[in-house]
Amino acid sequence: MRKIMILAAALLMAVACGQTKEQKTLVLYYSQTGTTQVVAEAIQQNLGADIEAIALVNPYDGDYGSTIARGQKEMQENAYPELLPIQADLSAYDVVFIGFPIWFGTYANPIETLLNTVDFSGKTVVPFCTFGSGGLNTSSDAVKAKLADSKVLPGYGVRAARIGAAAEEVKRFLLEGGFIEGEFEAYEAFSETRPATEEEVAIFDAAVSTYPMIQAKATEVASRPIPTGTEYIFTAQDRQSTVRIYVLAEEGKAPEFTQVLR
Ligand SMILES: Cc1cc2nc3c(=O)[nH]c(=O)nc-3n(C[C@H](O)[C@H](O)[C@H](O)COP(=O)(O)O)c2cc1C
Repeated sequence: MRKIMILAAALLMAVACGQTKEQKTLVLYYSQTGTTQVVAEAIQQNLGADIEAIALVNPYDGDYGSTIARGQKEMQENAYPELLPIQADLSAYDVVFIGFPIWFGTYANPIETLLNTVDFSGKTVVPFCTFGSGGLNTSSDAVKAKLADSKVLPGYGVRAARIGAAAEEVKRFLLEGGFIEGEFEAYEAFSETRPATEEEVAIFDAAVSTYPMIQAKATEVASRPIPTGTEYIFTAQDRQSTVRIYVLAEEGKAPEFTQVLR
């Protein structure tokens, strides 16, 4: 009997150890104007992970116009900015969250240098980003294409204008992904896509009205209830293309778009 109990205890401990095996996690991010840093710190705090900001030998000057000009030139000339050496010993980490602002529809230029010069093979990589209107999907695909020898998981992205919502969204993202333990209410799947009603078109128009760069007309929509209201995916016709725009309509708040998928 005693032997059986010892065996049972050993088994239980093995299971417990298996479940709690600590994955060593690093949050590595580039942030030019501080927005991505907010998300990086939220991830770091939830996970108790290590964190490091990527620094450049010759930093951008912080002015939007000149960063656009310099960034475009670097892309055209395939001459991406040199980084200061990463301080963390990458070999010590199983999981690396890589964060960046979206530039020109994909990850910011310093991340091109990072992915070209640092070895992430064998690691789990989780991209995260901040953006004016969108780019999580395209940048995540680009990270995946670059890091063929890493396990690149679905990432998290938030509009800079909604950075105040990031703390709560990051928590949910980490719970859903199993990075932290805890209870959360699973969201329903989106409905089938259907023609948008007049009322839904009005919600769409209100959500994008504050963002002059979106001049799109909603045609179809899918939706789902969420605890605070309704979430929509609108299909809309831009000047030249069809875009999908996610919209949150929460009780007591003006509708807002959360991302544009191109
Ligand atoms: C050079 C440059 C290009 C940008 N391109 C895009 C873009 O293509 N799409 C987008 O949604 N936002 C774009 N943005 C906006 C940034 O992604 C957004 O402001 C981001 O939150 C900045 O993050 P940071 O404060 O961490 O640098 C761009 C910003 C800059 C400076």
